[in-house]
Amino acid sequence: MGTADLQLFSDPDRLLPATDAFGRQMVISCGAALNHLEYAFESNLWRPVIHRLPHSADRELLAKIGFAPESSSSDVAVRMTSAIERRRTDRLPLQAPPEWKATLEHLVRIAARAGAELEDLGERSRPALEDVSRRMTGLRHDDPTYQAELRWWSGRGLFPDGVPEQARPSSRQQHSVHLSREFPPGSAGTPDGSPSEDRAAILLLSTSSDSRLDWLRSGEALSAVLLACTDRGLATCPVTHLTERAPSRTLLRELSAADNLPQVLIRVGVGARAGEPAPTPRRPLSEVLVRERPTPDGERNR
Ligand SMILES: Cc1cc2nc3c(=O)[nH]c(=O)nc-3n(C[C@H](O)[C@H](O)[C@H](O)COP(=O)(O)O)c2cc1C
Repeated sequence: MGTADLQLFSDPDRLLPATDAFGRQMVISCGAALNHLEYAFESNLWRPVIHRLPHSADRELLAKIGFAPESSSSDVAVRMTSAIERRRTDRLPLQAPPEWKATLEHLVRIAARAGAELEDLGERSRPALEDVSRRMTGLRHDDPTYQAELRWWSGRGLFPDGVPEQARPSSRQQHSVHLSREFPPGSAGTPDGSPSEDRAAILLLSTSSDSRLDWLRSGEALSAVLLACTDRGLATCPVTHLTERAPSRTLLRELSAADNLPQVLIRVGVGARAGEPAPTPRRPLSEVLVRERPTPDGERNR
């Protein structure tokens, strides 16, 4: 690859050890960024040529990306790039998605293209999922390390990272979605009189094995599914507290028709929040995109 290539690294300084001990969600997040990048370049007449997990002594190197010029951009890439600007995580109760059968088939195909399986766990799974979610929340109340970590990346308001107040359900609304991670209360709420029961479809994203490549692919699939939902006017929320511990991950596997490794749950539905959600602040570009001097052995040299 030439000198203008990009390399994608995970940043171990951002790892949340009490939440994400193996760095699985860190790699999934990087996969989501990779899919965003792919759509954005495609819509700007560059086709990314992605080499995932290239051989390297550096464990943080997740992908090398070269670029080939294109004469035209695909309509899908343009629409998904515009969805990047509008997509937000919606943690409030959602209404059931309309015309769901056709949308689900579309989302399943998108996930498969990225190398992951997507499945609707259906209403029949909701009671078991909500029950295990409540138990997980209870266990974590008694885990001071997790709580300290949660407060560090959400609910502090001092730094721009993490889940800001306006993206966290208010104390009135906090327990209306049973299938959700518990955050410190924020200011997000639905208008008075709107349905308070969550009727979102519950999707499970899974992979046949649990390698770092599967995690990266899961992140790419997650991003592609979220953007396709945004493009169709649907609200989404990734849910991962149930994939972080073996017992709840096993339950997800039992509820699934496939014998795969559960990676991420996604709630999908029609949003009912009062007004447009404020965008979650992003880290400055200078923190996430850095120029490196190439070295003969391909190691990093900032
Ligand atoms: C791997 C991964 C796991 C996530 N897990 C959760 C979760 O358990 N609960 C939740 O409310 N949001 C979850 N999210 C959503 C992030 O908190 C959210 O994407 C981030 O704060 C940026 O906000 P935005 O999606 O509104 O842009 C997850 C996102 C990723 C990529």
